[in-house]
Amino acid sequence: MSRVEGLRANSSQFTLEGKPFRILGGSIHYFRVPRAYWKDRLLKLKACGLNTLTTYAPNFVKFKDHSYLSLAASLGLWVILRPGPYICAEWDLGGLPSWLLRDENMKLRTTYPGFKASVEIFFDQLIKKIVPYQYSKGGPIIAVQVENEYGSYAADNEQMYGFSAKLSLGITELLMTSDGDGLRKHGGVNGALKTFNFQRLNMDRVKYLDEVQPQKPKMVMEYWTGWFDLWGNLHHVFPAEDMTSVVEEILKQDMSINLYMFHGGTNFGFMNGALAVDLPVPLPMVTSYDYDAPLSEAGNYTPKYHLLRTVFSQYHSELLLLFSKEYQPVVVHQRLSLWDSLIFTDEPSSSTTPVNMENLPVNNNNGQSYGYTLYETTITSGGALNSNNNVKDRALVFVDKHFVGVLDDDSQEVTVPDGEEGRTLSLLVENFGRVNYGKTLDKQRKGLVGDIELNKKNLSDFTIYCLDMKPGFIDSLGGSDHWVQPADKPPSGPGFFQATLHVDGPPEDTFIKLPGWNKGVVFINGKNLGRYWSRGPQQTLYLPGPWLHTGENQVTVFEEQNTDGRIQFTTVPDLGKTVEVQ
Ligand code: GLA
Repeated sequence: MSRVEGLRANSSQFTLEGKPFRILGGSIHYFRVPRAYWKDRLLKLKACGLNTLTTYAPNFVKFKDHSYLSLAASLGLWVILRPGPYICAEWDLGGLPSWLLRDENMKLRTTYPGFKASVEIFFDQLIKKIVPYQYSKGGPIIAVQVENEYGSYAADNEQMYGFSAKLSLGITELLMTSDGDGLRKHGGVNGALKTFNFQRLNMDRVKYLDEVQPQKPKMVMEYWTGWFDLWGNLHHVFPAEDMTSVVEEILKQDMSINLYMFHGGTNFGFMNGALAVDLPVPLPMVTSYDYDAPLSEAGNYTPKYHLLRTVFSQYHSELLLLFSKEYQPVVVHQRLSLWDSLIFTDEPSSSTTPVNMENLPVNNNNGQSYGYTLYETTITSGGALNSNNNVKDRALVFVDKHFVGVLDDDSQEVTVPDGEEGRTLSLLVENFGRVNYGKTLDKQRKGLVGDIELNKKNLSDFTIYCLDMKPGFIDSLGGSDHWVQPADKPPSGPGFFQATLHVDGPPEDTFIKLPGWNKGVVFINGKNLGRYWSRGPQQTLYLPGPWLHTGENQVTVFEEQNTDGRIQFTTVPDLGKTVEVQ
């Protein structure tokens, strides 16, 4: 096919090469799916009758995974790219890198010079990478989204103009904006097609676009097929029949659609965001991003998939079926206490006052982005330890390595028992995920963000360890002489617990179940699978088969508190007690 005219929005229908074209899209984020499964998920998207893949590109300058774009092209899918750099998406700080917060005056998503300059550099690099993937150059990208739901943030509308102008310099394809609640308020920018987001048909948004954007195609950029979950809440579901009836209505009204999410995947590692709207304190998102989407977290068909397939198309292809396996339970054979792991961290920092994790002099002076930070100091008495709400987000408090309590948004005081002078107070502070949606983006510094008091006196002289638990750190633990067999000591945390999972034959997907554990993180062959927490709702962790190999696999669990040392596997994911999306 010759490429003369890409996607256009010059009448009530999109056209591609001058012919009417309806976008039937689905979102799959490459960063939430193991690379070995990209093809499987995209084939399933296509086999469902969709013609367009929609993805965000977070992590600022990194966008290294453009092979995702060529894969989509090779499967005959068009792509709508949503490069942010703010993407929301239940991702840490909405996809913005935490080093931006090293500047104490930072104003994210505005024309604040420090933000603007960083975005310019990002766009320069990104545009260079994506230009060859544009439709006009023979690639799959038919449209590019400007920012994300800026209409509901609109801290500084000039920013949007700057963004679209900058994008227009290199991008020849159609620009779009996407808005939910903010559509009527500050949605859109000149030169870009406005689209909207909803779950139940929102005629108010449809009418509004009829008024302000007549004779233009209408598109639901995010048709929410389900919803995300927060720790301590219930698992959200959106009934399949409700979803299909809205989709049918959208199609009947001649609109284009993108299913958000078509396949959610997983917030592997420490990458989950947190929600700060309509809540007294931000609540972090769980590890699973199943989203009750048409393809499950592990890529399996759901009733939604089958219903949609009937709605969308008569397209036929071989459908892949993935198998999962219930491996035999394994038992922890060795344990290394957190304290004995500290020699494997970067050189600890010393500071009179607490330093937040982003401003620590680690990682080539980009600070610490994710994970845990350990703050230690010497105390001369017991008494009331008060966090002044400066613990972000949750600290386990120890005196001479004995656990004495938890400090977080809800509990800001812990009593330190009396004892001898010169004891070590340790605060193991966890960054539970930065807010990705809400007005407090600029305040997402983590670790200790201010003074901590003991008996109303500020503590000082800290030794600070960065525990971002990257694969290199997990690997290095193998070199320790301090591993003990659990039988030698009561198997309590905080510490690293190792077991071996033996896989016969080709590895398959599975779900990890940890009923005898409390809270922590699982690593498979050094790779961070994400957090678990007995509190739920999520009760199992997705372990993709391609991350295992035939033979012996190392399972390392970082447990904060207690464990029975048993690790179980199941073929049935358990995302917890459900509630319908409101
Ligand atoms: C908004 C955002 C998305 C995502 C959804 C909720 O529409 O644009 O990135 O956060 O909400 O899942």
